Order: sequence, then C-alpha cells, then structure tokens
Amino acid sequence: MTTKQKILTLLEADRDLWLSGEAIAAQLGLSRAAVWKAVNALTAEGHQIEAVTRRGYRLTPESDVISQASLLPHLNDPAYAENVHVYPALDSTNTKAKELAIAGHSHGTVVVADAQTAGRGRLGRPFASPAGAGLYISFLLKPDRLPLRNVTWITAVAALAVCDAVKLVTGRDAQIKWVNDVLLDRKKICGILTEAMTDLEGGGLDWLVVGIGINILSCALPDDLRSVAAGLYEDTAPGGTRSRLAASLINTFLAPRLWPDSRELYAAYKARQVVLGREVTVHSLTGASYAARAVELDADGRLVVELPDGRREVLHSGEVSVRL
Ligand code: BTN
Repeated sequence: MTTKQKILTLLEADRDLWLSGEAIAAQLGLSRAAVWKAVNALTAEGHQIEAVTRRGYRLTPESDVISQASLLPHLNDPAYAENVHVYPALDSTNTKAKELAIAGHSHGTVVVADAQTAGRGRLGRPFASPAGAGLYISFLLKPDRLPLRNVTWITAVAALAVCDAVKLVTGRDAQIKWVNDVLLDRKKICGILTEAMTDLEGGGLDWLVVGIGINILSCALPDDLRSVAAGLYEDTAPGGTRSRLAASLINTFLAPRLWPDSRELYAAYKARQVVLGREVTVHSLTGASYAARAVELDADGRLVVELPDGRREVLHSGEVSVRL
C-alpha cells in the first residue's frame, strides 16, 4: 500500500475520530511533513478531509470517493481489494474490464470509475454516467468459477445483488423489471449490461463482464430521463454511499460460493419481478413492439407472455415496458 492508501485506511476506519498528524506519523513510521503531503494529495483527489489545529484530521461525513482504502472496512475479505481498479474517469468500465480480460486478468477483477464518458447501456443505448453521481462498476468473471446451472443466470444474480446492496445502504426494497432493470418506487435506479467473449472452437464462454450502473443522485440525471429514472437520493447522499454499495456488490461477486442453490435463486428473482401478471408492451430486438400480458417466468428465467389471441411466447431477450 502507498502512504496515501495507508492514511486513508486509518481515516476510513472511523470517520468520527480525529487523528492527529503526530499519531498517524507514529503509527505509519513517517514524518509529520510526509503525512501532511499525503493528506494534501488525497484532498486533491477529491477526498474531503478536515484539518483542525490541535485535533488533527478526519474524513468529513459526506466524503464519498471510492478507493481501495474506502472499500476495505466494508469488504468480507480484505484480499478482495487487491483486484479492484479505480479510475477517476473512463469511457466505460465494461470496455476497460474487457481490455483487462484480454490482457489476462483473472476472475474477480473489478473496475470502478467516478465518471464514464461513454457509458454503454443495453441495445446500444448510452448510459448517463455523470461524475460522482452514480456507481459505475464492472466485474470480470470466468465461467468455470461460477457454480451456476446456467451462466445466463448471472444477470439475475447481479440484479439481486443490487437489490441487496440498495437495502443495505438505504433500507429500502428494490424490485426488478425483467430482464434486469432495478427499480425503486417504480423508477429505474440501475441498469446492468452483461457482455461475454465466446470461445468459438470450444463452444463455451471465455469470460463475462457484468457492468452495473446505479444512479445515486436524481438531480444529476438528464431531464428527459427523470420521469422514468431516479437515483437513490435526490441531491445529497450520506458519506461513503458509493463505497458501501460497491463493497456489497464485490462481497457477492467475489464470494467463494455464488448462489449455489438454483431454486433459491429462481425464487428470489421471481419474487422481485414487477411485470408478472401485468399488461406489457414487448419491444423485440428487431424493433417490433406489441401488447401482451406477462404470465410466467420459466425455469430458465425467460419471460412467458400471452398475446391477445391467447398464443403464448417465450421471450429470451429484448425488453418489456409496463405502466406501473
Ligand atoms: C442498461 O440499463 O441498459 C444497462 C446499463 C449498464 C450501465 C453500466 S455502468 C457500468 C458499466 N459500464 C458501462 O459502460 N455500462 C455498464
């Protein structure tokens, strides 16, 4: 760990506690000038650190910059932090994770960015990713490390992991709109984009990248999205919100056992669905839209819809919209 990371770890360990420059210097075997210099560098990176004469330093309650150190207190295993790559800005965390996959990085590599300049959504749509107003995170996963009956269930795992993280941080129960939008109070707060590299010769999957974007501040969303999307908070989030959300997702994805019980996974995914039993509009990948009623989720997580003439269709992909 660098000096900056060590100091941040101390400050993150207890945000209410003032730590004197002297105490930090003694604990880390540094000079007070070195501590001061590192604190200044952390401030320049966006960490809000208060410095008060005779008391010392502390992170303000609002400070919410993700770093390995800010994640550490919330991770189930400190070793998870070693796989986390944090950037101030990227075009897309999914693109970066794919580059790392190609460069040979391992299962469980995590990419986080404070902002994305070309965040990508499903069906080629952009994903608004303003700085500091959302969590933009991607996981590189190797299928042989995922004990799932079928890896297509990974998006369900991701959506459920987001629901758990949202519950942990806000205390609120989120819902899922098939396939994997996460909603709070009927508005989309999170999108998930899963991309995979197939092994053409072997016929299997080499790796998957699961990208998750959680809107944290509603006020930062583009005006045209505000009727259908929202953040977890309107304009300010409690300090450490993004770190706690990210750590909760990391704890799920890097756990040695990821949803080993497929029946439990199916039941949890189904229980959160908002479209079942409702009139929906199906938007197929070919661009066609038609009315139907969502009647069932089949054993493979596909949505079964009933058309007005009584015929049933099983949807593999595409999207449904519903007036909630
Ligand atoms: C959707 O709602 O259509 C999916 C949105 C997925 C957005 C996330 S943000 C992190 C990762 N990086 C991207 O470019 N996209 C995903």
